[in-house]
Amino acid sequence: MNRFENKVALVTGSSQGIGAACAIRLAADGADIILNGRSFDERGEKLIKQITDMGRRAHFIEADVSKTPNVVKLVTDAIAVYGQLDILVNNAGVEKNNDFWNVTEEEYDFVMDTNLKGVFFGIQAFVKYCKDKQRAGVIINMSSVHEEIIFPHFAAYCASKGALKMLTRNLATELAPLNMRINNVAPGAIATPINKKLMDNPEKLAGVIDNIPMKKMGTPEDVAALVAFLASDDAKYVTGSTYFVDGGLTYHYEEQ
Ligand code: NAI
Repeated sequence: MNRFENKVALVTGSSQGIGAACAIRLAADGADIILNGRSFDERGEKLIKQITDMGRRAHFIEADVSKTPNVVKLVTDAIAVYGQLDILVNNAGVEKNNDFWNVTEEEYDFVMDTNLKGVFFGIQAFVKYCKDKQRAGVIINMSSVHEEIIFPHFAAYCASKGALKMLTRNLATELAPLNMRINNVAPGAIATPINKKLMDNPEKLAGVIDNIPMKKMGTPEDVAALVAFLASDDAKYVTGSTYFVDGGLTYHYEEQ
């Protein structure tokens, strides 16, 4: 499929997990890719090879998106690499497990600056570019089922993803006249390194899986398929909402 022919996509936090799968899927569907992570290593090298082997271009930009000047520079540099940017996938995200009463300001800032502030100012830089150049643009934020359902002991994470819900609802209206769309993807339990601790604990994992109607974790590729749909013209009338990819977790009901 070549639905992203002549399009360039930036995927933040794409060295591994969901971000890497999004980069590969968008490339498979025809896009050139700007990869990002805090540091370039063998994972980035492997991804560049994988994408160029598909006949697409790929470039890695090191940037910590939790710092506003860095995320703004990331977007500016990404535009400069191939002379355009069409799709922004705000995927980079972090979580911290702590009882609410013990959460430090440092932990709070770590989560909020990556999951919310970096996304906010990354979008702003992309919007300024699209507005100046009168170009259409698509934004996808990697939210979480926890923009909707609770996650005790992850208060800052829930606050950050809950804020993304309203950011996307709000921006859809402001950006529609600019020919820009914005949506959230909300994964449930996906098998990625962020869930290593859970996956290494069979008892806890069984409990999580039991709570999912489809009785399994999702894959990064399941999430990437939804991202590719929302980024494409098949979704040209879709903006301002959240799409769950969670095996039924969010709105499930235990039949008695
Ligand atoms: P992961 O931890 O495997 O990958 C996240 C990537 O983002 C890593 O490569 C990391 O280095 C990068 N990153 C983190 N902070 C960064 C920063 N400040 N600047 C640049 N890169 C940074 O996690 P995963 O599972 O792939 O998560 C991706 C997104 O999906 C996150 O936003 C996460 O909150 C969200 N998500 C994941 C779920 C899951 O079950 N795996 C469920 C719901 C949401």
